[in-house]
Amino acid sequence: MAHTSELAGERRVALVTGASRGIGKAIALRLARDGRHVVLVSRSSGPLSEVKSLIESAGGSASVCAADLGDRASWQSAVERVVEERGRLDILVNNAGITRDNLSLRMTDDEWDEVIRVNLTSAFVACRAAARSMMKGRFGRIVNIASTSGVVGNAGQANYAAAKAGLIGLTKSLARELGGKGITANVVAPGFIETDMTSGLPEAVRSKVLEGMALKRLGVPDDIAEAVSYVASDGAGYLTGQVICVDGGLTMC
Ligand SMILES: NC(=O)c1ccc[n+]([C@@H]2O[C@H](COP(=O)([O-])OP(=O)(O)OC[C@H]3O[C@@H](n4cnc5c(N)ncnc54)[C@H](O)[C@@H]3O)[C@@H](O)[C@H]2O)c1
Repeated sequence: MAHTSELAGERRVALVTGASRGIGKAIALRLARDGRHVVLVSRSSGPLSEVKSLIESAGGSASVCAADLGDRASWQSAVERVVEERGRLDILVNNAGITRDNLSLRMTDDEWDEVIRVNLTSAFVACRAAARSMMKGRFGRIVNIASTSGVVGNAGQANYAAAKAGLIGLTKSLARELGGKGITANVVAPGFIETDMTSGLPEAVRSKVLEGMALKRLGVPDDIAEAVSYVASDGAGYLTGQVICVDGGLTMC
């Protein structure tokens, strides 16, 4: 069932944040199916162990790393520990994300700070720690999961859109800094995907979104996992600094 990784005799090691549910879980299952060893990261180990079991029962390989991405120092040591224990890190998918929506004029400092910390700063910390190992191996695939909100903006999401736009700038800069070392860095930007994050979307907003969408359906986590699988593959070595909007034709940008 697995397409084997092109690394002779060994599985490439992929780390996926926010792998306990939603898009991150779909990405983790897909990368495992692609033949990678997947390090599953989220706040608590319980739900991650269930994902690990799913992967292993399908013949794949995974391990669990519980960490709070909002705590910069402990998150950085967690990534460093993974690199040390596995001896390598080939693929990094910064997927974990939160929303604390509010209109800008009402947004509190805490709502701003928390979203920037979890959605943007944690990705920088992980990219910095992972890049050192990738440079040694002269191979790396960094995939940052942003959002179309970071490309076109969204009322009520100044903090979230700023963090996601920041991810795009971070990714393009990394692509330029690390390209000479065989490391690519790309963004996958989902539109509206059916997950816990969007389950509370009011019906009126949902219909308005569908109206403007070429494909007339919300996405599913596998739609994003499919794109990440390609971007993270050995074969995608000439693709870097790109923002791939997987949004059913909502923004077409
Ligand atoms: N669902 C959508 O429509 C949509 C659209 C655009 C972008 N995205 C982005 O895709 C990514 C995944 O979204 P989702 O819908 O699957 O979200 P989700 O809320 O279903 O899952 C988020 C994951 O991140 C983890 N997480 C959150 N805060 C964390 C922290 N401090 N430390 C460790 N882990 C933490 C959660 O435990 C969970 O595993 C996010 O970055 C989100 O911004 C989602």
